[in-house]
Amino acid sequence: MPAETIKQIVARYQEEKGALIPVLQATQEALGYLPPEALKEIAAAMDLPLSTVYSVVTFYAQFHLQPRGRHVIHVCQGTACHIRGGNRILNRIKELLQIDAGETTPDLRFTLEPVACLGACALAPVMSISGDTYGHLKPDMIAGILEKYQ
Ligand code: FES
Repeated sequence: MPAETIKQIVARYQEEKGALIPVLQATQEALGYLPPEALKEIAAAMDLPLSTVYSVVTFYAQFHLQPRGRHVIHVCQGTACHIRGGNRILNRIKELLQIDAGETTPDLRFTLEPVACLGACALAPVMSISGDTYGHLKPDMIAGILEKYQ
């Protein structure tokens, strides 16, 4: 991202109190994640210590220091899903994508994130991909579902 764009984002929020969080959100929206160079530019543009910027980024789960996939898979590991085999769903996804929980495929197609509850316990086991919810899952359904997301 050109330094100019970060300067523009910072300028947009300059007047706001606690502008760092909206600046980080807007930068992440523009880049998909928060690379180290962007954090340095933000710190310089806002006249803040880089350590302050990092402490905010690492405190909030909404910020990502690594590139994210085009599609985020949330696999429920909550109690209802766990009892109905949520772990087998997670393991099947890991096996198919050759990544671990919290990782992104090298082609940036998918990021895999286990979550505590997707709020659809009656459909357990459940996962969501890019906001689409899939329930009553069985491991042999996973490959066909992933195929839909390129
Ligand atoms: S426990 Fe899985 S959706 Fe609630």
